[in-house]
Amino acid sequence: MAISGWHPRYSTGIKIIDEQHQEIFLTLARLKAAVHMGGEGEDIGELLANFERITQLHFSTEEGFLGLHGYPDFEAHVLEHRTAQANLKEITERFASDPDALATTIVGFVHDWLRHHICEGDFKYVQFLKAQGISAT
Ligand SMILES: [Fe+2]
Ligand SMILES: [Fe+2]
Repeated sequence: MAISGWHPRYSTGIKIIDEQHQEIFLTLARLKAAVHMGGEGEDIGELLANFERITQLHFSTEEGFLGLHGYPDFEAHVLEHRTAQANLKEITERFASDPDALATTIVGFVHDWLRHHICEGDFKYVQFLKAQGISAT
């Protein structure tokens, strides 16, 4: 099944990580559709809460995996995750207090953040793991 916004270039080659990234993209696509429907479709607040939840689970998975394999930039990567979580929390709270003003900016923000998370942050650890001969596929 094609996932809106997902592209093979986002593939890390690590099965669990790719599945979680795809689930995050899928939730983003649902969020996008809900915003386009102007509140007539799925509940945007609920989708945002779901997005936060699966993102948190994904970060825990990555952190467990990277800790296990002694990734040298572990602390920096965890800090990126914490910053992303704080940003997501802030945007969710701002949405709750002013949904009309924020709905259209959410999708762009989340999509840019997600692309950055995968292409810049995650690909660094993927290179490290591959150089170590570690594969989780
Ligand atoms: Fe990730
Ligand atoms: Fe990450």
